[in-house]
Amino acid sequence: MEKFVINGGNRLTGDVTISGAKNAAVAIIPATILVDDVCVIENIPNIDDVARMAHILEEMGAKVRLINKSTFEIDTRPINTYIANYDSVRRMRASCYLLGALLGRFSSAEVSLPGGCNFGVRPIDQHLKGFSALGAEYFLTGGSIHVKADELTGNHIYLDVVSVGATINVMLAAVKAKGKTVIENAAREPHIVDLANFLNSMGANIMGAGTDVIKIRGVEKLRGRSYSIIPDQIEAGTYMVATAITGGDVTLHNVIPKHLESITAKLTEMGVEIREYDDSIRVIGSGVIKKCNVKTMPHPGFPTDMQPQICSLLCFSDGTSILNESVWDNRFKYVDELKRMGAQISVDGKIAVIEGVEELKPAPVKATDLRAGAALILAALATNGRTEIEDIHHIERGYENIVEKLSSIGADIKKVYFPEEFNFTKAL
Ligand code: EPZ
Repeated sequence: MEKFVINGGNRLTGDVTISGAKNAAVAIIPATILVDDVCVIENIPNIDDVARMAHILEEMGAKVRLINKSTFEIDTRPINTYIANYDSVRRMRASCYLLGALLGRFSSAEVSLPGGCNFGVRPIDQHLKGFSALGAEYFLTGGSIHVKADELTGNHIYLDVVSVGATINVMLAAVKAKGKTVIENAAREPHIVDLANFLNSMGANIMGAGTDVIKIRGVEKLRGRSYSIIPDQIEAGTYMVATAITGGDVTLHNVIPKHLESITAKLTEMGVEIREYDDSIRVIGSGVIKKCNVKTMPHPGFPTDMQPQICSLLCFSDGTSILNESVWDNRFKYVDELKRMGAQISVDGKIAVIEGVEELKPAPVKATDLRAGAALILAALATNGRTEIEDIHHIERGYENIVEKLSSIGADIKKVYFPEEFNFTKAL
């Protein structure tokens, strides 16, 4: 077992480079299945979710070669199955993108129901609604979804909820469908635009990604090229909060400031100074955090994937703040862990009321999911004394080299190994 040990209280200063976007990478890697050729993908983050997705493709027959630490060459020509292995896909939410990609290539797909972060019900009804509209049938047996079509044909699809996953899956299935598909009430996240740009660069015809209406004209064939993934909006946001919470001064490189606007706006409201440049931003904390109300929304609103991190920051604010989670039903599980450190937070359904405190106290805590884990790291960075965080595998799913990156800007953080249970036989 591994845990992070953080001796908090250091002010973070210096420069840090942001990695490629996790949520774009986990969509673009399965999208290479549709290309049925050799693709070179650059700026891939070195994180567990990416390794897992690449492994799933390899198990299906693809050849994946690491050209350097952030560039993969993926040859999907040898894939000759539309079935994704249960053991590999069950732990990862993004494995549901295999449904759209395999359906688009083979007109059939069989994939286990997805896992991933657990914050309430995570239905895929809108994904299936989209597949049906394109002419596919689906059924569930043995914990797997089977989707098949004689021929996929473009159609008008109105998504009842703004869903990143459904928008991506329908795009994937529609890229090679016959005729024109229109997705209305589509999600607008930067990784959706990135996926569309990737597919277009391979020969697809997708218009409107980044707006709520995406139009896709089906094409017969795609061809392999090189493509570079966008920087990670949420990793950048997390380092912005790390700087603010320690009253630090850090410049983040390899970012798209436009993607960070909602986070920048809220941090500015809290008294943090942010200077934007072409592909970098400088964050200067004042040491005082003003109370602030935050509501999560689909893009371009404040991202739900920054909600736990901003909660940690608000714990140190000068008053009472209200945090409204409007995307997920149950994304406040981590609050109990922050309370173990002395945070004053009360949760009622999708609303958290946070009373700012002078300081938190170190305590052993557990990451309950990826961003919850990031929130605990942030709280620990601003807490004098030694905080230990367990279940860090959640954090390593989505943050590349987090120990090295935080250490390089002055944090005292280490990854240590510890025995799960004391083993008398081994000890003797
Ligand atoms: C993606 O999840 C992200 N994951 C999540 O990031 C992120 O929190 C979420 O989008 C919202 O931005 C990946 O990109 C791999 P949704 P996804 O479909 O696609 C409801 C992280 O921390 N819904 O946009 O699963 C759903 O219940 C992760 O990096 C339906 O009702 O999210 C939720 O309330 C965690 N029916 C809302 O829509 C459906 O068919 C948004 O979900 C689909 C979704």
